[in-house]
Amino acid sequence: MPKKRKILISPSILSVNFGQLNREVASVASADMLHLDLMDHHFVPNLSFGVPVIKHIKTKLLLDCHLMVENPELYLEELAEIGVYSVTIHYEATKHLHRLIDRIKEFGMKASVALNPATPVDLIKDILPDLDMVLIMSVNPGFGGQRFIDLAVKKIKYLRSLDKDILIQVDGGINQETAKICRNAGADVLVAGSYIFNAKDKVKAIESLRK
Ligand code: DX5
Ligand code: ZN
Repeated sequence: MPKKRKILISPSILSVNFGQLNREVASVASADMLHLDLMDHHFVPNLSFGVPVIKHIKTKLLLDCHLMVENPELYLEELAEIGVYSVTIHYEATKHLHRLIDRIKEFGMKASVALNPATPVDLIKDILPDLDMVLIMSVNPGFGGQRFIDLAVKKIKYLRSLDKDILIQVDGGINQETAKICRNAGADVLVAGSYIFNAKDKVKAIESLRK
């Protein structure tokens, strides 16, 4: 019998009220990670928050940083200093992916690579053994509340066929229905922003993504 994978839920704080950030963060304490979307208005057409905000987050959840920025190497040291657990860099944001993965690991963080919807899985085939996680984007990065792009499902299935152990994260348009499709395709880490934070009962919303 194949081993049942543990599903990890990573709420994205992009859609919270930042005026009460720590209250919002406390409301998702039953999740496994906290997904932090850094945007610089260059790599993506939106600006979010940076290290000065993350520094003040109070939580026991593992901090899972998704860097949607140009020059991601400039952020690594500070992220390590504030105790970030995992860092995801975009394949499309660097010419030196292998070097950057090494840097992330040297700083003691888990290394992950994100692929935009149009970026094929095959481009990271050779470096899969160096990665802790791959993020399959199921929307074009930059905004919360977008519709799930079905293409992500076949990329998750293909990646799972290449590597049965690597953590596969999926991000964008995740709700109860798309979560199930992604879990069945082989994803382990589900990121959800609007679905969780717009829910009245966030604990229930988180649980609904696990099963
Ligand atoms: C989009 C971000 C996502 C976003 C997801 O660029 O990477 O993490 O917050 O939001 P939802 O779950 O609303 O699609
Ligand atoms: Zn994200």
